[in-house]
Amino acid sequence: MRIDTKVVHGKGKTVDPLSRAISPPIHTAAVFSFKSAEHGARLFTGEEEGYIYTRLGNPTLKILEEKMALLEDGEAAATFASGMAAISTTILALCNSGDNIIASSPIYGGTFALLSKLIPKWGIDVRWAKASEFGKEIEEQQLIDEKTKLILVETPANPTLDLVDLEEIANLSSKKNIPVAVDQTFATFYFQKPFKFGTDISIYSATKFIGGHSDSIGGIVVSNKELIKKIKDETLVDLGGVMSPFNAFLFLRGLETLAVRMDRHYANAKKIVQYLEEHPKIEKVFYPYLESNPQYNLAKKQMSGGSGLLSFIINGGREKGKKFLNNLNLMIVAVSLGAVSTLIEHPASMTHSTYSPEELEKAGIPEGLIRISVGIENIEDLIEDMDQSLNKTFS
Ligand SMILES: Cc1ncc(COP(=O)(O)O)c(C=O)c1O
Repeated sequence: MRIDTKVVHGKGKTVDPLSRAISPPIHTAAVFSFKSAEHGARLFTGEEEGYIYTRLGNPTLKILEEKMALLEDGEAAATFASGMAAISTTILALCNSGDNIIASSPIYGGTFALLSKLIPKWGIDVRWAKASEFGKEIEEQQLIDEKTKLILVETPANPTLDLVDLEEIANLSSKKNIPVAVDQTFATFYFQKPFKFGTDISIYSATKFIGGHSDSIGGIVVSNKELIKKIKDETLVDLGGVMSPFNAFLFLRGLETLAVRMDRHYANAKKIVQYLEEHPKIEKVFYPYLESNPQYNLAKKQMSGGSGLLSFIINGGREKGKKFLNNLNLMIVAVSLGAVSTLIEHPASMTHSTYSPEELEKAGIPEGLIRISVGIENIEDLIEDMDQSLNKTFS
């Protein structure tokens, strides 16, 4: 099956033999009964498989986990209450006090806050390397040591769309036996298959392209069976940030249309990039699938398309940028991404406001940067909206 068939028919769309329903059931039960005291005890020791309590496992969550493992080409998956729950649980599953993590910069503002403020409080050191020079900086600054327990990268990076070379980092880490986790939120399995390059863990904010409609928060981790056991059975069940079965249903429904949505997000993004590149009032456009982008060859090597996220700087920086946002009629000024509607925001004052001005500069996030998550609307309407707003902003 090709990927656009797999999202529809792949494991997960289980047919209940009794009802023959073609959509998955939402199992709302928090608790599952035992056939006997002995049966309950066997489920707890793991001698027999079965459901006990939804924090430990749930049939609707299982359908989503199996489907995501299949789509990402992994062995197993775990589902979480949010993308941040997926990231924090993965870190706590793999690192103890005294260990360290290497992370790529820039990174989503929430992940930055977790790594720079909370994680160090638990005695885990965080070392940063620039996304576009990741392998080089790790080697030059000798960031890896015997206490390095995880490498966490976001590629394309939020909000500058910088890429991390997945093959290079997988080669470097496998020599030292350190797992590499890739935040797949921007590209998804539709445009990028990190395991092909030798990485170990894929992390999603399912809130974004997986759901696709900005109506549910969730996170997903896909990996091999051994790491999922550590992350889910030995950590998530006790930390407790599990996904709601209602949201799992929405993510399963979202997955069925992911392929057609991603094609449209990408086609629209390419046209907007072209429009912005040619516009005299636009200083710079950030998009990996752009020939003038210094990482274009890497983009072509590890991605099959540019996805729907792009950023740009407008002449006149932050002040003109704000006017531009306020003059828009159709695009929605809002954070988050991956939705059917186009969402536009100013990272320095919104998604990345967890960075201080100095930290923004160090991470290479320009103050005047504007990020767009291009939706699936008609492209003429989107460009007309940008055009009228730019005309008003500079009149
Ligand atoms: C790249 C990336 N990773 C993780 C997250 C966190 O996801 P959630 O909001 O579902 O916790 C976000 C949220 O914007 C994100 O953009």
